[in-house]
Amino acid sequence: NKRYTIAVLPGDGVGNEVIPVAVDALRLAGSLEGLDLRFEELLIGGVALELVGVPLPEETLRKAKQSDAVLLGAVGWHVLIIVDFFFFFDKQPKWDNSPKHLKPITALLQLRAGLEVFSNLRPITVFPQLVDSTYLRKDTAEGVDIMIIRELTGGIYNAHPRGFTTNEQGDEVGFCTESYSASEVNHIARVAFDIAKQRRSKLCSVDKATILEGSMLWRKRVTAMALEYPEVEVSHLLIDTAAMDLVRYPRQFDTILTGVMFGDILSDLAAMIPGSVGLLPSAASDRLQGPGIFEPVHGSAPKHYGKDTVNPLAAVLSAAMLFRYGLKEENAAQRIEKAVSDVLDRGFRTRDIHTPGATLVGCKRMGEEILRSLDARVSVS
Ligand code: IPM
Ligand code: MN
Repeated sequence: NKRYTIAVLPGDGVGNEVIPVAVDALRLAGSLEGLDLRFEELLIGGVALELVGVPLPEETLRKAKQSDAVLLGAVGWHVLIIVDFFFFFDKQPKWDNSPKHLKPITALLQLRAGLEVFSNLRPITVFPQLVDSTYLRKDTAEGVDIMIIRELTGGIYNAHPRGFTTNEQGDEVGFCTESYSASEVNHIARVAFDIAKQRRSKLCSVDKATILEGSMLWRKRVTAMALEYPEVEVSHLLIDTAAMDLVRYPRQFDTILTGVMFGDILSDLAAMIPGSVGLLPSAASDRLQGPGIFEPVHGSAPKHYGKDTVNPLAAVLSAAMLFRYGLKEENAAQRIEKAVSDVLDRGFRTRDIHTPGATLVGCKRMGEEILRSLDARVSVS
């Protein structure tokens, strides 16, 4: 049997509800494929701040580095979460006024940097069973299948110089730098071309090359690399136009390549095509050797925590990505994806994707039904 160690970092809030469901799915799908998976649970985020005093304990980073893949829940009370057709902006009640290195979300940036996971894969797919959940017109959303590839460890989030200062007028200034080097662009563009080639061979690179120097270089490098991939049809869009087109006619997109900040915004925008962040998985990886980070795109959602109502499918689909991109166990990945589709066929829906006539279930029950879809011998309470 092939053996793998998976670092499990449930983190804060609903991470503690969805990650156990994803672990069960990994364990069962893995055992059906004859894999021997070991899980090691580690602290991160607000819970780590409380117990250890730092958002990313040294032990967590060390063991994550030694693992074959990292399964992450959510960190901090920080992310915009959308459930039930209402928007909730979570305040950061507890760590709002802490210095940056003591904020829960810093753990996320430190973990990404520590594992050098520079490519962030965020698939946006509209399941045929869930086409009614879209915020767009149904005929606009139908059949959408997009892979957003977002650069993750460079750009405006990470580049230097950055900080706070005072200008000549004595005015306080906060600043950071939007920069990309040729090797950073080459790195991420290579990932995008290779993935586009395995999909429908259409790559759209999104930038702001009319204004930003980093974007000018970005566009130049992507254009140059396109010569190596004659089979891939390449286009370039400015971020503003891309945002518009993603809503107007999303089916035109196959693979989207973009930087850290535009990718952050576009992926939340695109989340409204399937209609719930509760459906969106993600993978962050390094194309060489190190372990990747697999996590649902939704955040810790404190308002929903403890009610057993959230959707575990984003976490479960992240588990599928963990098998596919992290462990290169494609069969196990497909088992999970088929089980998700089967659960939807059998009519089970959590609140965020519920429609009349479907069976409304909570997070735990959804998890049990996924296990049953993975293996009919599993008994469900
Ligand atoms: C995301 C989040 C993070 C990001 C934040 C919390 C740092 O919004 O994963 O999309 O912007 O990368
Ligand atoms: Mn985001």
